Order: sequence, then C-alpha cells, then structure tokens
Amino acid sequence: MQDLDAIVNEALGLFSGIEDADELERAKARYLGKSGTLTELLKGLGRLPAAERPALGSRINAAKDRLEAALKAQRERIQGCKLAAKLAEEALDVTLPGRGLGTGGLHPVTRTMERIETLFRSLGFEVADGPEIETDYYNFTALNQPENHPARSMHDTFYVDDGKHLLRTHTSPIQIRYMEKHRPPIKIIAPGRVYRVDLDATHSPMFHQVEGLWIDRHITFADLKGVLADFFKRFFEREDLKVRFRPSFFPFTEPSAEIDMSFGDGWLEMGGAGMVHPNVLRNVDIDSEQYRGFAFGLGPDRLTMLRYGVNDLRLFFENDLRFLKQFN
Ligand code: PHE
Repeated sequence: MQDLDAIVNEALGLFSGIEDADELERAKARYLGKSGTLTELLKGLGRLPAAERPALGSRINAAKDRLEAALKAQRERIQGCKLAAKLAEEALDVTLPGRGLGTGGLHPVTRTMERIETLFRSLGFEVADGPEIETDYYNFTALNQPENHPARSMHDTFYVDDGKHLLRTHTSPIQIRYMEKHRPPIKIIAPGRVYRVDLDATHSPMFHQVEGLWIDRHITFADLKGVLADFFKRFFEREDLKVRFRPSFFPFTEPSAEIDMSFGDGWLEMGGAGMVHPNVLRNVDIDSEQYRGFAFGLGPDRLTMLRYGVNDLRLFFENDLRFLKQFN
C-alpha cells in the first residue's frame, strides 16, 4: 500500500526534526492519537473485503510499531540533549587559575608581644600565663590592695555577674599565681589582655600588659633599672634611649615608680614598677627576710604605637584590614 509507506516516511521525517518533548507528543497524536492518520486507517479496515483485512491490518500495526520506536528514540535524544545542556551550564572550568588564599599576618601587637618574649627570654626570663577572668583575691587582696581601694570600684572594673569574679585589671595576679606554685629564684614575664573602664585615643577597655617578676636573694632596684634600660634599647634598636623612674605608689610594691622612657625631647610613661612588697611575699609564703625582688608592668600597645608611629590605640582593635595589612 503506497499510502502507508508515505505516511510512515513523513512521520519519521517529522519526528526526527523535533527538539522539544511536548511538541513531539503533539506530533505523535497526529498519527497515533484517537483520530490520528494510522488510527483512522485501522478503523477503515472494516470497510474492506474480509480477505484483505488481515494483511493490511498487520502492515498498519507494523507501521505503528515503527513510529512508536522512532518516538522512543527521539524522546531519548531530547532527554540526552537536555542533560548535556545542563551539564555544560553547570560545568566548572578546571583550567581557570585558583582564587588564592592570600597569606595571613600577625597583628602588630602580637608582633610586639613576641618581640618582648624573645628579648626577655634572652635575659633568662620564663613566660607565665594566667586567666583573664580573675577572682577578687588574685586581682586585689593578695596584691596588698585593701578592701576600700578605689580601683575596686564597680566603675573602674568589669565585674562578672556573681560579684566574685572580674575581668583582671592588670597582669599582676599572675605574680601571685606563679609564686604560689614556684619557689625562688623566680624570673618571669607574663603577657596578656587586661580590662578597664576607659576609652579614648590612648585608652581602650581591653588592652595589653606584660608583667615582669624577678625574685632572688640579692635583687635590687638597680637590677630593675638595668633590665628595663636594656630592654628598651634592644626593643627600639637605639643605644641612646634613657630610662627614668618617677616616685609613685602601688600597693604591691615598695618603693614604687613610674617608668619613663626618653622620647625625642621629652619623656613617655611606659609602665609601673617597684620592689615587691613584703606583704605580697608573705601572702605566698615566701620568706621576705631572705628573698626580695622587683616587679614591673609594661604596656605593649604603647610600645607598638611608638615603634610603628601609630597615634590612635583604637586602630589596633577595630580590625580594619586596610590598617592591619600595613604591618605584614
Ligand atoms: N599592675 C600595675 C598597673 O597595672 C603595674 C605594676 C606592675 C606596677 C608591677 C608595679 C609592679 O598599673
């Protein structure tokens, strides 16, 4: 039957050109749907003489099978194209250069801390540590700081809710903690963060200190001055730096002094120091008749500002990368 072959060829040609799944199903309906061309032919079989029906019937069915097979193949092709397109869209170009992690750097104050540790280690000092949340005892009482001392005021100190703990206001409690566990000779520095209610260009509620403590039988004020003078000269790499002591008061040292360092035409205050008070030694069961020594507290933030020429302390703690990057 000429007609049937023509219909099949036409359908196959049509199907093979379709790229869209829905369109393909609509094309299928034209041939195999309820009133599709092949369906109509099958319906027309009844009008033929009975002898011709089986042969033509099986030819029509064979044609239907060919169309179904072609449809299936085309559906798969369309699916495959869709997947390939999706994969292409989501593809990673593995030949692109990587984004790069960039190298981190040390915070300028960390650099100062490390430098301080290196310099003091070279003088035989060990490095000690202590908690930032302290008890009243270690922060004040054991340091010979009486109950009614103004530094204990709620306004000057950050108290933790229970009223017994506070954020340490200085690194001096590490003196006590260390001397409770070690007997003289004791020769340590103790760097760390400390907290006070203070904020302006040269004060921040969190800042850094480095405590120093040297206890032995014959340690004198002259040793204190020698150690600090040596430290400042080496820290700033300048031989002409001078250190000056101004009389002062700390409950835990006697006598006490403010440490000044020569800077240009004037002097800059770099910390506090003194000879450890006998009451402090008594509080940790060290015989103050046999042993004595000095303690000091330095400000690493100020050291960093001077070393790098930074004029606002707050810059160190805002963590602006544009600022911090300059030190690496
Ligand atoms: N702890 C004192 C302060 O923070 C500094 C200091 C340390 C003074 C050691 C004397 C001895 O002000």
